[in-house]
Amino acid sequence: MPDTVIDLRSDTVTRPTPGMRAAMAAAEVGDDVFGEDPTVRRLEERVAEMLGKEAALFVPSGTMSNQICVRAHTRPGDELLCEVGCHIYVNEQGGASVLSGVVCRTFEGDHGVLDLSQLEDKIRPDDQHLVQTRLVCLENTHNRGGGRIYPLEKIQAISEWTHANDLRLHLDGARLWNAVAATGISAREWATPFDSVSVCFSKGLGAPVGSALAGSRDFVGKGKRIRKLFGGGMRQAGVIAAAALYALEHHIERLAEDHRHARTIAQAIEDTAGLRLVPPEVETNLIWVEVERDFAAAKDVVAALKQRGVLVHPAGRQTFRACTHLDVSSAQAERAAEIIRQVVPRMQPMSVR
Ligand SMILES: Cc1ncc(COP(=O)(O)O)c(C=O)c1O
Repeated sequence: MPDTVIDLRSDTVTRPTPGMRAAMAAAEVGDDVFGEDPTVRRLEERVAEMLGKEAALFVPSGTMSNQICVRAHTRPGDELLCEVGCHIYVNEQGGASVLSGVVCRTFEGDHGVLDLSQLEDKIRPDDQHLVQTRLVCLENTHNRGGGRIYPLEKIQAISEWTHANDLRLHLDGARLWNAVAATGISAREWATPFDSVSVCFSKGLGAPVGSALAGSRDFVGKGKRIRKLFGGGMRQAGVIAAAALYALEHHIERLAEDHRHARTIAQAIEDTAGLRLVPPEVETNLIWVEVERDFAAAKDVVAALKQRGVLVHPAGRQTFRACTHLDVSSAQAERAAEIIRQVVPRMQPMSVR
């Protein structure tokens, strides 16, 4: 592999910037399980304010944040409705059933996006044989949906329906900041239709660790107990909360740059025979690519790119993902696009091997 690597595997591979490290070093701290860490408190207040919720809770990861919310909204034997490719269903080891005794019922969205018409008649009737439908979970932007932004009006329609039917609505907003930067719609507007929202600081925002959940004061109080149960109570967490605060202040608007870089790389994919963008439009920082079956397997394309120093994430037999972030410069995005254009056409197609 060449000395200079362009790491497009995930937006979680970023390293804290010098400014962020300085903020971490200077953070005032205390024992957060005792509620004595002033920096964590400041972060929680800031997140609650940005999302327009009564309270927020700092947690170690997006997975824990989602799973705390599922547990706080439900009882064992309940059912949640979600999109078939969402992180909560696919990438959290069945946490909803393992940790909360909840059944997930899935629906195939349009690249991750569900329409109310798919859900409307899916609430289980009050019948002793049946699970009770309690919660709907959406994801914005949608990772496996190719970084798609949920149309706000679709969310609002689902929200009105859930609340008219005494269901709760949760948002996995691991990359909500990307939706904010791409649309100009504020985090508060995106969050308003939801009872609970989970956001991450360790993806596009570039913090080394951490997520937060937000909702009503009661809900967050319940979430705090569950965080302890799940082993997520942290002590002098101000050191990492400072990084998250720094990221909220300095790294949201710049996500638009990542989106521009993603389009540069996406154009190279579009121009390359044997590769296809899924979905065809790249709206944020994620680029999902399908490799044509008679051309190559995804792992072969991933390996060929790696040889030239471009790392992408193999996500299935015929699928890989590339992802732009804080540590990918404009020059690197252009270089990655150039390497894709050079390397892939030189691969020997499956049919002639
Ligand atoms: C949409 C989405 N939700 C949740 C998570 C989980 O975040 P974490 O890796 O911090 O557990 C991820 C991780 O990539 C994600 O993409």
